[in-house]
This record gives sequence, structure tokens and C-alpha cells, in this order.
Amino acid sequence: MRRSKVLLVIGLRSGGTLDEVWNRTMRLTRGGREVRMPRAVIIGSGSEIAPTRVTNDQMARIIDTSDEWIRTRSGVEARHFATPDIATSDLGAAAARRALDSAGVDKDEVDLVVFATMTPDHFFPGCGTLLQDKLGMPPVPCFDVRQQCSGFLYGLQLADAHIRAGMARTVLLVGAEVHIGFMPWTRENYAYALGESDVPPTKEEWEWNSRFRHLVVLFGDAGSAVVLRASEEGERGVIDHDLHGAGADFDKLCVPGTGFKHRPYIDAEQLARGDHIPVMDGRFVFKMATTHMAAVAKTVLERNGIAPEQLKMVLMHQANKRINEYCQKTLGLPDEKVPHNIHKYGNTTAATIPLLWDECTRDGRITPGDLVLMVAFGAGMTWGASLVRA
Ligand code: UT7
Repeated sequence: MRRSKVLLVIGLRSGGTLDEVWNRTMRLTRGGREVRMPRAVIIGSGSEIAPTRVTNDQMARIIDTSDEWIRTRSGVEARHFATPDIATSDLGAAAARRALDSAGVDKDEVDLVVFATMTPDHFFPGCGTLLQDKLGMPPVPCFDVRQQCSGFLYGLQLADAHIRAGMARTVLLVGAEVHIGFMPWTRENYAYALGESDVPPTKEEWEWNSRFRHLVVLFGDAGSAVVLRASEEGERGVIDHDLHGAGADFDKLCVPGTGFKHRPYIDAEQLARGDHIPVMDGRFVFKMATTHMAAVAKTVLERNGIAPEQLKMVLMHQANKRINEYCQKTLGLPDEKVPHNIHKYGNTTAATIPLLWDECTRDGRITPGDLVLMVAFGAGMTWGASLVRA
């Protein structure tokens, strides 16, 4: 009979890497051999980009902005938006199918779904169960994560924790967004931007659209997914995370209306005021993002004894290319270790990091065994970093 024996249990203390916590809290042997805590290995990935590509020049047809401003201030050159028949769960499901294919995993093998998004199809339920249904999966547990631009890393930590604890062996982790619902313009304005109508915005519409110009030019729609599987052998897998959340400054980046703090939670006055559209103090968020992303990246590297030179790639959330260039400089990383896709897709919120992972693993910039650091900052405020051996 195979028996497990607990050699040492001294309780959880804060601090230390995940492996250190495991080693000082629980050490198991099976048949005289030490049992290792399972690692969550990313064994496949896939993405789905929304179909309608919109350039900065097209945006400038309906908003007081310019290609030059958007490009130099954010790095965005174009973004893709979903058509009206496509919701976040659709992009997520398409990305998930590709991820399962690339992993060689059948949908029936998945025993946990984690779906990160800040633009769910419905106020409730979340997208997790919608994805489960669209993929025709068995009724496995489905978590919805809503930590905005840090959503993928929060989801990764949740998936990793389930695998380390032995509560799941195969996890489907999805980040997807359809931001176009936040956009302030009318359907007619949008048709004009795309060159499908000859009717330009009225003066009032132009001013209304331009009120949100610092925000709406940044975002785009996409879904991306990874499949994680438990492994007791080798060094591959998620190594460590450092996540943070602090709500004191939540109102510097939030949707001020359409929440249950209001009675009713949505009404015509809120819509007329534009309270359903996010507000953002761009400079404040920029400063917080640069400070926290650089600091959390350093923390994770230092406590795992990893020098920046040992990293193959650093996948940073794509909110603004200048934020990432600042972090790159602080960490002393060369250009080839910090990939970007913001120029093609804009900020796809929960999808940015898995999109980068998918691109880099497909074109060979990341190969099995490479050390990869992922770093994000988002509304909440939330931020974090995860260290992974591909
Ligand atoms: O992922 C979630 C977290 N979000 C972020 O990380 C975003 C962080 N913040 C940012 O990326 C930047 O702050 C922005 C890209 C949003 C803005 O760049 P900025 O260099 O901080 O510009 P600013 O807000 O200080 O505005 C500078 C000027 C202002 O005009 P005046 O007052 O100097 O005349 C703005 O009205 O740029 C103007 N402006 C624009 N002009 C043309 C703001 N948005 C636009 C625009 N087109 N789209």
C-alpha cells in the first residue's frame, strides 16, 4: 500500500517563495521518496483578435485626436473592435479552443475554468460558466476574476494555487475583453470613422466623444487563453507570484456609475452624464503603474535569486508603451527581452499578457525551459508579478 507520511508541519508564515513556504510547512514522502509540490506548467495557448481593425486616423474622424498624439503618448497605432454579434465570452471561447488544441488537451480533461475580464457579457452571471457551456464542457468549477488589467495574473495565481493544492490538474485560464461597449460614440459616428457613412459627427457629438479622448484611444478587443497542467517532475511551471491590491485610489480609474451603490443601479441620468464610461486620471495611474510594476518585478526576482539577465522575456501588461519602457530601463533589460503588441491591439486589459505569451511561444521567442517574468498594473488598484519557467 502506498503511504504518505507528513514529516514536518510548522504552519504558514508570511514571506518567502512558494517553494519555501511548502518546504517549511509540509514535507511528504511516498514510499521513501520525497513528494514534490506539483507545479502548474503552461502547456498550450491560443488567442482570438476581434475582427474590425480601427486605425488612429479613423479614430481622429470622430474624436479630437491625432495619430501622432496617440502613437507618441501611448504607442498604440491601431486596435481591433468586436462586431455587435461578438461578446467577451465568444472571444474567450475561440481563444480557449485554440489553447486546448495547442496543448493537445480535450475539453473534458479540464477540471477548472478561470475567466478574467472587466467587460463581462452580463452584469451576472460572469463569463466562466458561459465559456463552459460554449465549449460543451462538463460542469466543472468556474471562477470569474475581475481584477482588470491585473486579471490574468490574479487568475494565474488562482490556477496555480489549485494545482499546487492538488484540487485541480488541468486548468483553462482565459483573459478576454470587449471594450467597445464603453465607447461614447453613436453607431452613425462609428460608421463614419470606418468610412461606411458620409455623415460626420455633429458638433455636440464631436465634443462628447472628445471628452473621453485620453481613455478611449487606448483600448482594443481580444481574448487569449492558456492551459495549465500539474507536473511533479522537472523544473518547468509557475514558480512564484507577488500580488497586491489597494483601494484607496480606486476612483482614479473606475466606472463611476452603473453599480449597486446606486438605486437603481442604472438610470437615464447616469447615462446622460456618461457615468457608464470609465474615468481615468491618466497621469496618476501612469505614475503608480511605473512605480509598482518596477518594484514588484524586483521583489519577485530578488526573492527567487534571479538576476534580470537570466530572464528570457518579461511580459508586461500593455497599457502604455512608455510605462513599459520605464520599467525596462529600471530593470536594465535589453529591447529584445520586452516584447510589445500594444501598437497592433491597444490595451486588451486581461488579454494582454496571455496574448504576448501566445505570440512569443508560437514564434520561438519563448521555448520550454525559458524563465519568463509577467508584470501588470490595473484598476482597483491592483498589481503583481509572476515568475514562470516555460
Ligand atoms: O491599463 C490600465 C491602466 N491605465 C494606464 O496605465 C494609463 C496610464 N496613463 C497613460 O497612459 C497616459 O497618462 C495617457 C496616455 C492616458 C495620457 O498621456 P499623458 O502624457 O499623461 O497626457 P495628459 O493626460 O497629461 O494630457 C496632455 C494633453 C492634454 O492637453 P493640454 O491640457 O496639455 O492642452 C490633454 O487634453 O494631451 C491632451 N490629450 C489628447 N490630445 C489628443 C489627452 N488625450 C488626448 C488625445 N488626443 N487622445
